[in-house]
Amino acid sequence: MCGIVAAAAGSNIVPVLVEGLKKLEYRGYDSAGLAVVGATGIERVRSVGRVAELEAAAAGTSAPTGIAHTRWATHGVPCERNAHPHVSGGIAVVHNGIIENYESLRRELTDLGYEFTSDTDTETIAHLVEHLLRAEPDLFRAVQLACRRLVGAYAIAVIDQRQPGKVVVSREGSPLLLGLGDTGSYAASDASALLQVTRNMVYLENGDIAELTAAGVRIERRDGKPVERPVHVSELSAAAVELGQYRHYMQKEIFEQPEALANTLEIVGGAKSIQPGIFGAEAANLLHDVDQVLILACGTSAHSGMTARYWLEAIAGVSCTVEIASEYRYRTSVPDPRQLVVAISQSGETADTLAALRHAKSLGQHKTLAICNVPESAIVRESALRFITRAGPEIGVASTKAFTTQLAALFLLTLVMAKVRDRLSEAEEAAYIDQLRHLPVAVNKVLTLESEIEAWARRFADKHHALFLGRGRHYPIALEGALKLKEISYIHAEAYPAGELKHGPLALVDAQMPVISVAPNDELLEKLKSNLQEVRARGGELYVFADADAEIPSTEGVHMLRLPEHYGQLSPILHVIPLQLLSYHAALVKGTDVDKPRNLAKSVTVE
Ligand code: G6P
Repeated sequence: MCGIVAAAAGSNIVPVLVEGLKKLEYRGYDSAGLAVVGATGIERVRSVGRVAELEAAAAGTSAPTGIAHTRWATHGVPCERNAHPHVSGGIAVVHNGIIENYESLRRELTDLGYEFTSDTDTETIAHLVEHLLRAEPDLFRAVQLACRRLVGAYAIAVIDQRQPGKVVVSREGSPLLLGLGDTGSYAASDASALLQVTRNMVYLENGDIAELTAAGVRIERRDGKPVERPVHVSELSAAAVELGQYRHYMQKEIFEQPEALANTLEIVGGAKSIQPGIFGAEAANLLHDVDQVLILACGTSAHSGMTARYWLEAIAGVSCTVEIASEYRYRTSVPDPRQLVVAISQSGETADTLAALRHAKSLGQHKTLAICNVPESAIVRESALRFITRAGPEIGVASTKAFTTQLAALFLLTLVMAKVRDRLSEAEEAAYIDQLRHLPVAVNKVLTLESEIEAWARRFADKHHALFLGRGRHYPIALEGALKLKEISYIHAEAYPAGELKHGPLALVDAQMPVISVAPNDELLEKLKSNLQEVRARGGELYVFADADAEIPSTEGVHMLRLPEHYGQLSPILHVIPLQLLSYHAALVKGTDVDKPRNLAKSVTVE
């Protein structure tokens, strides 16, 4: 999703802006631009495509104050005319988010004589600030007044050629933080863009307006009240986002899973038992009378929630509902104050998940837990309890290590809930913990199957459709496999619980349709085997991911790979890995942009 970088410093900031945009590339974008206050006024450079192209186009630009942006189109097609910054008179603006009242503002500003040159909602902000500056010459005040007129979610950064050395930023709903450097002040959508200049970060709250100069920052609320915000020293490792030996971030992140899981599970240490406190100091108190669990999430994070539902009901005996956040937030639901609301999000900034969490709270549901990979994110800050997955920065748009670490966190939640509800003996708990501890090693063994999976993926070069089958706790894994394949290889893929085959998808099966089946040796294997026969009988080509114990013969038209270990309840964590590898290699065969698939964004901070 769109990214902002802004800087006011004592020397040329163009390299900082460009480097910052490169760090935000992972969020997904289709065009980029920057504007600086140069010797002759606003100098703007914009380009469609990669930040590297913008960098080349901006080679001759130099100034101590500027703003920059990567755009992911919402209003208006991706083209240079719609790329940010947008200018009006002597001011330039970059913006993330959506201005909901832009049509009425646009009419008002058109009536005042402003000409619109783009299809964006952002341009209304540029003209609005320009208009307000006529009566209120101070940029900070003019932006403050403008923000009072804006309805929607936004983060903005504004410069004025008559007030060089100053950037004014504000946020409402979209992420924005400040970086305090020795010789300058900065702002960006996330900390990774600013690590190049500072580790001292200030997280703006909704409704904050900040002025950045080389000397420092000042913050006020939209209503004019001055406010102080604490400085956090970021612990994000700059090295964590380098590509290293891998061809793509997705590949790197798939192979980082053993380490990501080990880091996430470090909290368990050498213990034989897990305490509720791993979810926060208040956890024991808050969880003791929970009667139901409601999981809210989007995309891959929703699939981890769907998997956890099987665990929570089977092991902890607590009923669990999983709901797509964008549905829940607009639905009339029946609130239950004893329900534990679990928001799962890699980024912690997904607009729908955040809004769903807030909606639940507005209904009086205050037992909230965030399972999230970004400790400083909004979803974490707004939840009563938290568990931080320690996957490290995930750059590839298609989520991998965030998913498996979410699953690990959700399994820990299952164990804690089971204990609180007296459903787990000491011996069972110790056995599960041993299995968790062994997980990084087990994942490593699965990763050794890469070359065989790569060979399978070559057979997908001419495929346009694929079907994924799973049963029970592996049905969400089939869903995740299908999502991965469609996201990055653009092969249309659907997932079904195998028992549903006869109720529709079997009609699609022919020799052109690869059918990928998640088939560990669990209580549903015999049922699944009959479903696979149904596919073979129609000429469908089967790709079966079984495990060491699964008795499935490899026959003509049935390709089979065995995962090295059978892993019981935790088997979904292992079985998703070959599906990640299959989609990665299918995407390579197809020649798609693996880390930045078309039309998708890493962090969806607008509806
Ligand atoms: C986007 C990403 C997905 C991710 C989803 C939810 O669609 O491309 O990979 O699963 O958002 O994101 P979250 O950060 O809330 O987990």
